[in-house]
Amino acid sequence: MNITPFKAPLGARIEGLDLASPISEALSSELRELIHKYQVVLFPQQTFTAAEQLNLAKTLGPVRSRKLPDSYFSPKSSYDTPGIAYVSNIRDSDGMPTGIIPDGEMWFHHDTCYTEEPDKFTMLYAIEVPMHGGNTRWANMYAAWNTLPSHLKKEIEDKRGLNVYDYATIERPDLNSLEKIEHAWQPAVITHPHTNHKALFVNRLMTCQIEGLDETESFTLLETIFDHIEQDQFIYEHTWRPGDFIIWDNLSTVHARTHFELNDKRRLRRCKVSGEKLM
Ligand SMILES: [Fe+2]
Repeated sequence: MNITPFKAPLGARIEGLDLASPISEALSSELRELIHKYQVVLFPQQTFTAAEQLNLAKTLGPVRSRKLPDSYFSPKSSYDTPGIAYVSNIRDSDGMPTGIIPDGEMWFHHDTCYTEEPDKFTMLYAIEVPMHGGNTRWANMYAAWNTLPSHLKKEIEDKRGLNVYDYATIERPDLNSLEKIEHAWQPAVITHPHTNHKALFVNRLMTCQIEGLDETESFTLLETIFDHIEQDQFIYEHTWRPGDFIIWDNLSTVHARTHFELNDKRRLRRCKVSGEKLM
């Protein structure tokens, strides 16, 4: 295996592995270490069936198999196999998307931070990619924490953040209808359960309030912190190619998606490894 760290604040490219073949426990353990070390790992030119991708995910930990609620449009074809979801804007003959989270830009977020046990790893396999945009950007939340000005560290450390998701992609949820929306309180700063390093655990799309502060005070503090997190100095941006397979550490990074046009086809296959309650 050849490992080439990205010229970026996180991430590495790993070549020389065929991940469609069954992998040994020793290799699986090595992969988990690499994900924790580099936070985002790219395996280019992979050829995967859904079952093969799922098998790989299972070697990395318990696979999360969770449907979006019925209130959100989730096409049946997105969930043919438990543990697999398709993220796609491709429309069927009735004009309905064939995948979840189909269109356009998406703000920075941690996957499922609005549940009690946020995902540990997320992985995406690129099947069809747009001509322009639809890139994924990841920010290094260890670096964002380490460089946060000390007065902001004091304001947020040891507090909890309220994480809410109403399936919008570029706007904040309406806290007045919280009882109808999935939400969970999480530490605003976590000690990563595997690396023991501290990382910021708030994000623009889903974190709405900081414990002990009212909505306006929270908004002001959080906007300052989001602007800090989303600086280019913490970010790697990936332009997808078909066959790219990327696994990331969902606890030490946030990710976002750049704009792409409605008719510029995009289809990726997603699996997730379950995490645990954060302390
Ligand atoms: Fe996501």
